[in-house]
Amino acid sequence: MKKISLSEHVQVSSIIQGMMGFKREKFSPKEVMEMIVHRLAHGVDTFDTAQLYGLGDNERLIGEALALNPQLKHQSTWITKTGIVPKLSEDDIWHYDTRGKSIIKACEESLEKLGLKSIDVFLVHREDPLIHHEEVAKALDECMNRGYIKSYGVSNFDPMKFDALNAFTKHPLVTNQIEFSVDCFEHIDNGNFDYLQKQKVHPLIWGPLAQNRLMHHDSPEYKPLIETLYSLSLKYHTTPEVIALSFVMHHPVGAVPIIGTTKNDRFENLLLSPMIQIDHQDWFKIYISHPNRRLR
Ligand SMILES: NC(=O)c1ccc[n+]([C@@H]2O[C@H](COP(=O)([O-])OP(=O)(O)OC[C@H]3O[C@@H](n4cnc5c(N)ncnc54)[C@H](OP(=O)(O)O)[C@@H]3O)[C@@H](O)[C@H]2O)c1
Repeated sequence: MKKISLSEHVQVSSIIQGMMGFKREKFSPKEVMEMIVHRLAHGVDTFDTAQLYGLGDNERLIGEALALNPQLKHQSTWITKTGIVPKLSEDDIWHYDTRGKSIIKACEESLEKLGLKSIDVFLVHREDPLIHHEEVAKALDECMNRGYIKSYGVSNFDPMKFDALNAFTKHPLVTNQIEFSVDCFEHIDNGNFDYLQKQKVHPLIWGPLAQNRLMHHDSPEYKPLIETLYSLSLKYHTTPEVIALSFVMHHPVGAVPIIGTTKNDRFENLLLSPMIQIDHQDWFKIYISHPNRRLR
């Protein structure tokens, strides 16, 4: 599988496996370990998690999986995120925390849970309305100086906030993890894709299959989009999901999708996407069949 360089020191596979759906209620550490072995055997060596997932337990589950087969640590690339604090007790509320000390502490906790010597890509998870860019930059650089992380970036930032943080960090932010799919055009509309092309930064894409909401959409206004995906799947001899992922990968911004499926067969099906080069006009057929899109 093709590799994408996020920085001089960090490369990711051109499709990434998201870990959010791997919950302890459904998956044992052994099953997660076997899933990692399966993905590596198919050329996907990059995995995405977050401090938040599983209310903090997702990183721990991954750490237990990696401990069962420690050589996997040397074969895989790990992304994690910080900055969202879930409600863990009656007195708490769900909130964001990107204060410097909190970032460094969270990074140490992620390393301990994952059982890694360093994290390849460390991201600030969301735009914090209380973000102090200089303080966040210092904390990220401190994590780098201590050898905790190899690179840093952000998630769900608009271009102005990306720019503000980038102005204070010693190294460039290597990515912005954002949503994009046949059902989400936010970052085409807000100029983020243009900005990232200007900065030569590859976005990592979450929700590339619209988090499964599309194929089960009951609303009649979604019928044309679903029909287009089905009709193109016949044209390209593949599945509607592969067409939807090819739509994402076709964009010149150089999107790197993070797929969320927990199933081996669905994962293997999606690996066909980079091989399907959808025709330019077919991309527009999908685009304009969305209920909120029209060309002027
Ligand atoms: N930065 C952020 O704010 C943010 C937000 C959300 C997610 N993420 C990351 O992005 C990753 C991707 O998650 P996502 O939910 O956004 O991804 P997605 O790939 O758009 O959707 C995955 C969901 O679709 C379901 N699905 C149903 N049929 C499928 C099919 N035929 N093929 C593939 N999937 C199918 C999967 O269920 P099965 O498991 O049953 O296949 C899974 O629940 C997450 O794991 C996480 O790492 C980041």
